[in-house]
Amino acid sequence: MTSKIYKFSSALIGAGRIGFQHEYDEKRIKPASHYGMLIGNKKINFKAICDTNSNNLELIKKNNKNINLYESYKEMIIKEKPDIVSIATWRDTHYEIMDYCSDNGVKAIICEKPISENLKDAKKIVSKLKNLNIPLFINHRRRFDSELIKLKTNNITHYVGEILQVNCFYVYGLLTTGTHLIDTLIYLLENTEGEIKSVLGFSNTSNSFCPTDDPNIDFILFFSSGLKVFVQSLDMKSYDIFEFNFFGKKGKLSLKNIGRDIEQFNIINSPEHKGFTELNFNPKKKLGGKPRNQFGTLINNVIETLNGKSISYSNGDDSIKVMKIIEAIKFSTLKNKKINL
Ligand SMILES: NC(=O)c1ccc[n+]([C@@H]2O[C@H](COP(=O)([O-])OP(=O)(O)OC[C@H]3O[C@@H](n4cnc5c(N)ncnc54)[C@H](O)[C@@H]3O)[C@@H](O)[C@H]2O)c1
Repeated sequence: MTSKIYKFSSALIGAGRIGFQHEYDEKRIKPASHYGMLIGNKKINFKAICDTNSNNLELIKKNNKNINLYESYKEMIIKEKPDIVSIATWRDTHYEIMDYCSDNGVKAIICEKPISENLKDAKKIVSKLKNLNIPLFINHRRRFDSELIKLKTNNITHYVGEILQVNCFYVYGLLTTGTHLIDTLIYLLENTEGEIKSVLGFSNTSNSFCPTDDPNIDFILFFSSGLKVFVQSLDMKSYDIFEFNFFGKKGKLSLKNIGRDIEQFNIINSPEHKGFTELNFNPKKKLGGKPRNQFGTLINNVIETLNGKSISYSNGDDSIKVMKIIEAIKFSTLKNKKINL
């Protein structure tokens, strides 16, 4: 006897790169887009897609004749009445689209990062969604990465002992990509290092390939434990990078490349100086290596939450914390002084 699977209806708004096109990047693990995440799930009835760009809709039509296509998300929400809406549009549209969804019967919202353009809008929409009991899932995708979930559960101190210093690198805009980095730092460090208490920002104009309205900023985060995390921005035109180095009393843990490769380094006797120790050049253990199915974990988290068996791994309050820090870093850079949160 087979038990019936209840399906949640869903719709996608925004069928650009992360919304749709990445599904056809042969190098990426699948699902690689919101489209792939929704089309491939047996518990989802994926009904409709909206994009203001009709060329994107034409591309979808070639791949899938069974999905309803719209140029207006408002019309789509009213006609299709989806339970779950996935938003993969430009960041300056996230707030108004979430607001409309919340007024029109949507039961769960998945939204691309950053949650909004500014802290004020983030606070407004998070409060509204909480009051309406609508769970929110912001795609700060490292929170849906099985290897990072393990690091979080064990704490970084499990791998390196007491943390002494942390440095990190990112590219392409404080709000656009820095949001991932700050969120990941909070996620991995809050259990042992507490909250971020203050920030200090420095503009980086030397290698500033970034969105026109979102500069690369270097910064220091001061945690309540006394830990300082140094973050530097690099040039995405040269190479992509999203890297973390956690230096502890018992070794070092690195998240390398775009966070995919995780290496643990132990301490060895120096081959060169008697009585001295060094970090091993070769990792003692490699923890990552292959890309993880983050979109799969995200949609399972949504379904489990709607079934009352889980809560959002990346909720509105998590994103508000990030937005507060981003605004403080911008202000610190402008005023050229350390800012307390
Ligand atoms: N989580 C991640 O790792 C990750 C990676 C890439 C991009 N993103 C985020 O995803 C979002 C989209 O980025 P992208 O690179 O896919 O951009 P994109 O330009 O390739 O796609 C955005 C699409 O949204 C459509 N759109 C814009 N406003 C709309 C509206 N009001 N109604 C319907 N459609 C609308 C556009 O026509 C476009 O097709 C951004 O917020 C970006 O920061 C996240």
